Amino acid sequence: MSVIKLNAIDSTNDFLKEMLRKSELENFTTVVTKCQTKGKGQMGSIWVSEDGKNLIMSALVKNVLLDVNKIFYLNIAISLAIVEVLNEYKIPKLTIKWPNDIMSDNKKIAGILIENIIKSDAKIESVVGIGLNVNQNNFIDLPNASSLLLLMNKEFDLNELLEKIIHQIKIKCYLLESSTDMMFEDYISKLFKKEIPSLFEDKNHQFMGIIKGVTKDGKLQVMLENDSIACYFLKEIKMLY
Ligand code: BTN
Repeated sequence: MSVIKLNAIDSTNDFLKEMLRKSELENFTTVVTKCQTKGKGQMGSIWVSEDGKNLIMSALVKNVLLDVNKIFYLNIAISLAIVEVLNEYKIPKLTIKWPNDIMSDNKKIAGILIENIIKSDAKIESVVGIGLNVNQNNFIDLPNASSLLLLMNKEFDLNELLEKIIHQIKIKCYLLESSTDMMFEDYISKLFKKEIPSLFEDKNHQFMGIIKGVTKDGKLQVMLENDSIACYFLKEIKMLY
């Protein structure tokens, strides 16, 4: 398994996808950079990160997802891998904000962008992009963001974090084969604001609801004021917190 270390690149996800187009890569090949000039977030957003301060990485995961209907399970595996590593460092109050933001209390400390490539033989290759806020000490204009430094009052070693995360990604991906249900339950138990009345916004209005869980295909289940359960895809709902 190789780790490609770059000083600067537009996006590690795009770089890894480009490498994949040109050649066959070993599973878990990882690209990491100090500076990203066109970092991509979920749903077309941009991912901003101070140069040299944070972990910006993309890893190739293949031969894990065998069925397009199970794509959400990779989100589960990766979120749990990051939480596991952060638990080792005793980062407080860790939860997963659906579908895969890593939170410490009310602050986002890591984001995940998974891009799946379905090959002509139906095999799935996934580029798993992770942005983990590590040693950045201010987030102007991002009131809901934080970093390990701000939470723990000390600096962290980016290489050590990288190694631990790759190791945990491998473990969780292998476990997906045998312990899918257990991992699903673990993910649900770690959901941010589960069972807590929260404010949401869909394309029409704002409303109160309570997160009850997530369906196996990754839709958020929210109990509405009339006690019915509504299911939402990522683009259909936003939690206001
Ligand atoms: C999000 O929460 O919106 C997802 C953010 C994902 C950011 C990472 S940083 C490394 C990789 N390369 C990218 O361009 N994006 C992901």
